[in-house]
Amino acid sequence: MAALTASALFRTGSFSMFQRMKQLSAKYAQVALSGLPTVVRIVEVGPRDGLQNEPEMVPTDVKVEFINKLADSGLKNIEVTSFVSPKWVPQMSDHNEVMSKLKKRPGVRYSVLTPNLKGFQSAVAAGAEEVAIFGAASETFSKKNINCSVDESWERFRGVAEAAKEKNVLVRGYVSCVLGCPYEGDVKPERVAELCKKLLDMGCYEISLGDTIGVGTPGAMKQLLTEVSRHVPLSKIAVHCHDTYGQAMANILAALQMGVTVFDSSAAGLGGCPYAKGASGNVSTEDVVYLMNGLAIQTGVDLHKLIEAGHYISSAIGKKSGSKVGTATAMKCAL
Ligand code: HMG
Ligand code: MG
Repeated sequence: MAALTASALFRTGSFSMFQRMKQLSAKYAQVALSGLPTVVRIVEVGPRDGLQNEPEMVPTDVKVEFINKLADSGLKNIEVTSFVSPKWVPQMSDHNEVMSKLKKRPGVRYSVLTPNLKGFQSAVAAGAEEVAIFGAASETFSKKNINCSVDESWERFRGVAEAAKEKNVLVRGYVSCVLGCPYEGDVKPERVAELCKKLLDMGCYEISLGDTIGVGTPGAMKQLLTEVSRHVPLSKIAVHCHDTYGQAMANILAALQMGVTVFDSSAAGLGGCPYAKGASGNVSTEDVVYLMNGLAIQTGVDLHKLIEAGHYISSAIGKKSGSKVGTATAMKCAL
């Protein structure tokens, strides 16, 4: 009921409602904490990580409108689709249409997932200027997600990284299951650190640490980052927290305290991986931006426009928003 009210509210697109939302949320204090960065970068993964996990294929035009709204909110890094096998993830099978229809804004990087050279070549033909390769710290997850062992995956990724270098395409790297695997349980920080170093040496400009099933807690996050920092500077590291166990915000604060300045998140808290049993949504971008605003940390994102984008997609897919900030703000406006 609450979700319907919130979504209906935003569907009306009422200007006065938008103004009211601004007034209501402007009145809380912003207080910096010493030792934290003053600027962070957010990588929005909702159109990819979020919509890959929807049971039904979301219409291409809805995806494109969602991406355009996210860019309008000031987000500069948006992961828009995947060039993976349509047999494995049919929800991303409209990758060419998404790429050709989206309104590219100057200064915004639209990236895509590419598991192998075939995906890379299709992505480049579709105009991708940034790709992400995605490995895992767990053998079983690697096999289930990309149908090969971790060692075999390096050979594929190396092919992508070399081709990308030739074509001047940026490559981001993911390591999944960094704080736990749905099939193997505990994952050693040393293993993750070793994989991060390999990805960096391969040419990735940044490595995103995926807590794929959201099992991590702040102590484990700090332990992991301490180990990773022995091999890779934390200026090259992003964290990608799924919020399955409600730990994502705490883990993000722990990562901020360690000096991480790049955070993956998903508008409306969409997300999950079809090949990670029990993975639910990413931390919501609205909640992350609210946290950063409160800590006086710059993101370059207009929270109100972002909330609107989150409500747009929630309404379009008929789902309650997974963002606490998005839901609370809309309900407050309705009073
Ligand atoms: P495979 O079946 O082993 O592939 O799949 P193959 O090389 O044996 O080829 C079989 C068929 O697939 C062939 O077609 C290929 O041409 C085709 P056929 O001859 O049978 O007609 N094929 C492709 N088609 C389109 N695009 C391609 C491609 N490659 C081969 N790129 C493969 C291996 C990697 C392709 C498959 O396992 C796959 O697509 N997996 C992707 C799974 C996925 O997208 N998972 C979700 C993203 S990861 C994630 O969410 C985690 C993350 O968010 C971080 C975190 O949270 O931790 C990033
Ligand atoms: Mg993910």
